[in-house]
Amino acid sequence: MTKAIRIHKNGPPSVMKWEEVDLGKPAKGEVRLRQTAVGLNFIDTYQRSGLYPLPLPMVLGSEGAGIVEAVGRGVIGIKAGDRVAYAGGPIGAYAEQRNIPAEILIKIPKEISDQTAAAMMLKGMTARYLLRDTYRVKKGDTILIHAAAGGLGLILCQWANHLGATVIGTVGTKKKAELARAHGCHHPILYTKQNFVDQVKRLTKGAGVPVVYDSIGKDTFPASLDCLQKRGLFVSFGNASGPIPPFVSGILAQKGSLYMTRPSLFDYIGSRPELEANARDLIGVVKKGVVKIEINQTYALKDAASAHRDLEGRKTTGSTVLLP
Ligand SMILES: NC(=O)c1ccc[n+]([C@@H]2O[C@H](COP(=O)([O-])OP(=O)(O)OC[C@H]3O[C@@H](n4cnc5c(N)ncnc54)[C@H](OP(=O)(O)O)[C@@H]3O)[C@@H](O)[C@H]2O)c1
Repeated sequence: MTKAIRIHKNGPPSVMKWEEVDLGKPAKGEVRLRQTAVGLNFIDTYQRSGLYPLPLPMVLGSEGAGIVEAVGRGVIGIKAGDRVAYAGGPIGAYAEQRNIPAEILIKIPKEISDQTAAAMMLKGMTARYLLRDTYRVKKGDTILIHAAAGGLGLILCQWANHLGATVIGTVGTKKKAELARAHGCHHPILYTKQNFVDQVKRLTKGAGVPVVYDSIGKDTFPASLDCLQKRGLFVSFGNASGPIPPFVSGILAQKGSLYMTRPSLFDYIGSRPELEANARDLIGVVKKGVVKIEINQTYALKDAASAHRDLEGRKTTGSTVLLP
């Protein structure tokens, strides 16, 4: 048995229960991990609320780090005692111990702490595919990143800055604007007070940007489209304010022959070579100090409901780690 945060029905944070759950031996291809740090992600709130439905009951969570305690049959390259981290795979990260497929694990180098690893795998690998694969950010680009002071936002701003882009970012408060600015966002916009379309037009002298990274969803649609150049790319990768309602595709023509994609990390790291290439780049920029993983909140794992309330209440900045 182990202790974990499990839900038996979808709903608000109060549905999360700290319970004893079964922990069998690791099956073929799996290892048993003693988790030392668990990452908090917005997707956990969608899975808890039912916006992204999954079979119940379930232990929440998609990101963590820890020590391998036991190895199942057929596992190659990972042994007991290894320090590892992961993003994705079967849901169930909010647990003291868990069994997990070895094929999704990445060994953590000594320069990176367990907490940093748990804070960076899902958000950092997402930043990498968004900036390098979905749209290839290059020197001289001016780009728009929403929620620039969030967990993913701070990583995106630093990495895009490193790639030579001018970063325009939206944030909810003045304090968040300062934080984003200190992490590579050249032009923070207070979208709770200012019209962000007007500001983007002003900053780009009317030209608009080639790409918008939008994790807000309902509240920034369709305004995000008005920030784009002709044939620009709208990357809708999250729904922090709720999903975008159905719309007529003709709007993309009216607003300048725009492209739109709704990507998911797991389609970019589906094979072991893709996962390794992405993780290698991420670990590289973190080791060099180009991207700092800011853990601005920690909570005991058993208090994960408080962490969800704060994340959904826009009270957090940077990354959040839950401690088993
Ligand atoms: N598709 C993928 O592959 C993928 C992977 C990872 C994450 N994501 C998405 O990326 C986004 C960021 O994830 P994260 O874990 O780093 O979270 P986060 O950005 O730290 O937190 C969400 C932020 O969104 C902003 N926000 C604006 N309107 C909001 C509202 N009505 N309710 C709550 N927040 C609101 C808040 O910042 P302000 O107060 O500054 O507005 C808030 O801090 C999420 O939408 C997540 O689903 C997508």
